[in-house]
Amino acid sequence: MKKDMHSHLLPGIDDGSPDVETSIDYIRRLSDAGLKEYICTPHIFGDMFRNNEQTIHDALYRLRNAIQKEGLDVKISAAAEYMLDDYFMDLLRSGTKFLTLNGSYLLTEFPFSIPPFKLEEITFEIHNLNYQPILAHPERYAYFHRKPETYSRMKDLGFLLQINLLSLTGQYGKQVRNAATYLVRQGLVDLVGTDLHHEGHLEMLLNPRSQKIFKDNFGDQILNDF
Ligand SMILES: [Fe+2]
Repeated sequence: MKKDMHSHLLPGIDDGSPDVETSIDYIRRLSDAGLKEYICTPHIFGDMFRNNEQTIHDALYRLRNAIQKEGLDVKISAAAEYMLDDYFMDLLRSGTKFLTLNGSYLLTEFPFSIPPFKLEEITFEIHNLNYQPILAHPERYAYFHRKPETYSRMKDLGFLLQINLLSLTGQYGKQVRNAATYLVRQGLVDLVGTDLHHEGHLEMLLNPRSQKIFKDNFGDQILNDF
């Protein structure tokens, strides 16, 4: 994979990398492994991380400066990962311009306890504003595990599905691994991402056993369409 469209590498603004030095360390090691382009997607989550264009672009600016100073040959940009909570609905209805990936792609996540309330309505409004929603890590929501037909329903609602590479390794448990494998085998995966938050994720991504699992699932090249 040359391009990662989901990560928490921007320093100090969510539960990902805590500071610029850590971000540089992660990027250097990922770049050595061949990953050269990063779309960072910090959380925007009403109860925990109220990031906005300003906080995200400030962090991006600091990281880009450090990358330049270190002479690393990588491309880095930023969007966000939006929790579909009440705060998101406030943003949606107040006409906020969302931080998107390549124009109109909007990375969203669901709460881990229950699916968003009134999902049809929310997705209708997102589409009406001409955004293309992506659902981050559908394999991680336990409430879908017993109902795999729900994944196709999410596609029918208009979501692209993005799995986390590490889900295939068992990093998030067996059920999540099974769900991710199911999604790959059914051809339901549109995009893959690292969703890298910390050192543990990085080590697991670079581990030869994981690399073999990625290769077994996707062949030699995992390419994202943008
Ligand atoms: Fe994430």
